[in-house]
Amino acid sequence: MKYSYIFIALFVLFSSCKEERIVGVTSNKAMVVSARVEASKIGLQMLEKGGNAFDAMVATELALAVAYPYSGNLGGGGFMVYRKNDGSIGALDYREKAPLAATTDMFLDENGDVIKGKSTKTPLSVGVPGTIAGIFEVYNKFGTLPFKDIIQPSIDLAKRGVIVTQKQDKRIKKYKPSFWEANKDSTLFHQVWNEGDTIKYQALAETLTRIRDNGRDEFYKGKTAEIFVDFMQSNGGIITLQDLEKYEAKWRDPVTFTYDDLKVISMAPPSSGGVCLAQIMNAIEPFDLHTYKPNSTKAMQVMVEAERRAYADRSYFLGDPDFVSIPIKELIDKEYAKERMASFSFNKATTSKDINPGTIEVVESDETTHYSIVDQFGNAVSVTTTLNGAYGSKIYVSDLGFFLNNEMDDFSSKPGVPNMFGLVGAEANKIEPEKRMLSSMTPTIVEKNGKLWMIVGTPGGSTIITSVLQTILNVHEFGMGMQESVNQPRFHHQWLPDEIRIEPNKFDEKTLKELEALGYKLNTKRTPIIGKVDAILVLPDGSYEGGADPRGDDTAVGF
Ligand code: GLY
Repeated sequence: MKYSYIFIALFVLFSSCKEERIVGVTSNKAMVVSARVEASKIGLQMLEKGGNAFDAMVATELALAVAYPYSGNLGGGGFMVYRKNDGSIGALDYREKAPLAATTDMFLDENGDVIKGKSTKTPLSVGVPGTIAGIFEVYNKFGTLPFKDIIQPSIDLAKRGVIVTQKQDKRIKKYKPSFWEANKDSTLFHQVWNEGDTIKYQALAETLTRIRDNGRDEFYKGKTAEIFVDFMQSNGGIITLQDLEKYEAKWRDPVTFTYDDLKVISMAPPSSGGVCLAQIMNAIEPFDLHTYKPNSTKAMQVMVEAERRAYADRSYFLGDPDFVSIPIKELIDKEYAKERMASFSFNKATTSKDINPGTIEVVESDETTHYSIVDQFGNAVSVTTTLNGAYGSKIYVSDLGFFLNNEMDDFSSKPGVPNMFGLVGAEANKIEPEKRMLSSMTPTIVEKNGKLWMIVGTPGGSTIITSVLQTILNVHEFGMGMQESVNQPRFHHQWLPDEIRIEPNKFDEKTLKELEALGYKLNTKRTPIIGKVDAILVLPDGSYEGGADPRGDDTAVGF
């Protein structure tokens, strides 16, 4: 076998320590971990041909648009964080934007109340897509292989078709009523698809072929743009050719901070991911978490209280940095974190009403997808990309072969409402023409003692930040391997609602009872799955261990 892609998240029994340890796929030189085996393999093919992590990024992103229409996309957007083998770092923002005709109150009725569903499942919910601009930005800056060689495997895959997995079978059936609701016509996804069937994406193959031949402009100015805008306008959407022509992906400085001997490199606004992760990790750092057991009462208390305080700041301060001024330096200051944690006691839960500033409950969709790549030259990329909801708005442009995002829902539809402390919040993330909506996506790369150590990220809406946190801490504080860390049960607190979301049936009952006795409200029903983390760890001998989340069809491949 040419490369050691192995679906087996191996359960290896280390007889010497009599301890069962979970070990993921390992490789010596390069690795790709993504939500579908087809996409991971196409990404790895680029590396086998001598391409770099950026070539693999473009190929994986496109392959996910074919193999994983649930979140992979041409009709959405995302963020990439990179670290090159010379230690230089950077970040790309290819987040969707509000159309020029968007208005702050576009999702409100005449009484100023939010109209349910308008920002999630109508053509108005669609932001101007950024994915194609993003991949061309990456390719033009760092790509080495001919572009046609990078895109061709995805064209071939779309023509050949993708086999429906058991999990996909369930998802398509679950969302079928929503496909009917969103699309006036029947689409490819209205057919009956069962596990083992092959879905061929002919229209998508044609769109990708035009992009291969005509480049970036095909999507933003060419035939694809015209079909897209015609579709939007005949269905009541507001995206115009001018919106597409004006779209630009933007290079941003990543958010960086230290935690013990780690340096964490994560996404800057318009994602809240990096800032929020920094705030939480700064608050946890003084507690020497390794002195507690993983997922023990005390470890969970420290993490939950740090999360509560960071999320209270999130919705008040964060938004698109091109529109609002964000005090990033102050928010990620270690002294500020200490001040915020001063009110924490192990004897009793803090209540969220005693924590300000803050404004509104973070309501975000749980869907998105993440992939991690390291190449044979030591370059690393961490990418999270999304349509927002599962299959985005569920609106499918049959002539182009892809779903449209409903990212406009990530704006605050009703800003300016004073909170219980009289603070006016969510202004930073109000809808404005050409603005990017706030995200939680947290593509992250971690260095240890100045060297590449981990590449990590996940879907999960507002739970993204806390899943990335737990994945890093499981390895750094509790000595787990990559796959073992990814497999761990997860929990999440986001200030409001004042509850800990817990993956059901996975935590120690005694710990949960202790938390309740301390005043924590637990919710095991809201989020049966928290995150689908895809990560890579550099092992002490320089080889790689993949962590592909068994909660999905995620797969690590390497050589
Ligand atoms: N739409 C999910 C996020 O951007 O966080």
